[in-house]
Amino acid sequence: MRIAMIGGGYVGLVSAACFAEFGVEVAVVEADAGKLAALRAGRMPIYEPGLDKLVAENVAAGRLSFGGDLAEGVAGAEAVFIAVGTPTRRGDGHADLSYVYAAVERVAALLDGYTVIVTKSTVPVGTGRRIVEIVQQVRPGLDFDVASNPEFLREGSAIEDFMRPDRVVIGCESARAREVLRALYRPLYLIETPIVFTGIETAELTKYAANAFLAMKVTFINEMADLCERVGADVHDVARGVGLDGRIGRKFLHPGPGFGGSCFPKDTLALMRIAQDAGAPSRLVETTVAVNDARKSGMAARIIAACGGSVRGKVIGVLGLTFKPETDDMRDSPSVPILARLMGDGAVVRAFDPEGMEQARGLLPNGMIYCRDALDAAQGADALVVITEWNEFRALSPARLRAAMRGKVLVDLRNIYDPAAMTQAGFAYSGIGRQTSMPASG
Ligand SMILES: NC(=O)c1ccc[n+]([C@@H]2O[C@H](COP(=O)([O-])OP(=O)(O)OC[C@H]3O[C@@H](n4cnc5c(N)ncnc54)[C@H](O)[C@@H]3O)[C@@H](O)[C@H]2O)c1
Repeated sequence: MRIAMIGGGYVGLVSAACFAEFGVEVAVVEADAGKLAALRAGRMPIYEPGLDKLVAENVAAGRLSFGGDLAEGVAGAEAVFIAVGTPTRRGDGHADLSYVYAAVERVAALLDGYTVIVTKSTVPVGTGRRIVEIVQQVRPGLDFDVASNPEFLREGSAIEDFMRPDRVVIGCESARAREVLRALYRPLYLIETPIVFTGIETAELTKYAANAFLAMKVTFINEMADLCERVGADVHDVARGVGLDGRIGRKFLHPGPGFGGSCFPKDTLALMRIAQDAGAPSRLVETTVAVNDARKSGMAARIIAACGGSVRGKVIGVLGLTFKPETDDMRDSPSVPILARLMGDGAVVRAFDPEGMEQARGLLPNGMIYCRDALDAAQGADALVVITEWNEFRALSPARLRAAMRGKVLVDLRNIYDPAAMTQAGFAYSGIGRQTSMPASG
């Protein structure tokens, strides 16, 4: 079986490599010349654990190839997956579908024979229908189907998530398309992965509903963390006590500086707009977006308060820049508004991130000092701030960190450290939603 994957980013590249691992022949078509050159040279344009090995093995086996020529990529493909970006459209919060529709128009012009066009990108309800219209306009009489196959993988554990997902959702309306997708996902069916077949609109909405629910869960525990600080409770114990209830579940109950990344912020915004346009606004989603935005911008005030009310002329060491560990993705990371505010207020920022520094350069203010490692970031700092919970930061020696600094303020926005151990090492420690924290401010 042969398929084409349009877009070789986080989702396209991982999905392509995993399908190839299933034994499918996959042609990835990537428009960005820099990314394509890297892929062809065997270098990964993104950081994702295990991806380089999986890609190398499948390229060597002749099942995975990379090209820039769409005609070559789609020739003979039984299914063409669209895995291009769907960022927030400037100004109104809707998903920007220009990349999707541009890809569909060009693909439609090139198809010969029955093909299933599959959206793997996260697309608003109605996109599948619109794709049918576009293809019919470009190629009247073409034999094709459209399907929606939203992707639920998480950056940082993307391969495992793709290979052992909780479920696969497939929205399609013809038996023929269903058979093509069923055949593609047969290895997952064999390990008893639930495959949920639905209509196209249902599949499209399922993806947004899943992301919005998880974003709401994170936002809920963040609010509980604020409350814990006020009433002297510990949010970790609350989260454990709540999450052990099987109806609720323990995942996504970790308090922090607010959700970021390439999906939750844009998908909650897009769902908010989809629901408003449909005349069924979701107040829960709207509130989640507002509460999270306020939280992200309030984090800088929390750091400033921990530094005695001003950071002017102070050196702030920062551990972690990416929106979560095990990725180099900086899109909508809480670090961006936090560091912009701190530097705007006159702080000198020394930061280290194991994988995100290259992407950070385009997003963070000029003048930020990029450091060699965590200890380098702490060097001479008045305050140290943990923004991303990379494992390597957990293992740092408190004594060495403290000795590298000139001040003693430690603001742990991910609660990776034991407050008692840090206090003992001489830090003025504050975390999120714990009794040792200072009261929330700003
Ligand atoms: N990143 C995630 O964790 C994740 C998880 C689930 C779903 N998604 C969804 O998947 C989609 C893709 O996300 P991503 O993070 O992989 O984005 P990305 O920006 O990393 O990748 C998109 C790629 O598509 C390429 N591209 C754009 N137009 C093209 C064209 N016409 N032909 C060939 N290549 C083209 C771009 O150059 C880019 O490399 C989005 O809709 C996103 O919401 C992302």
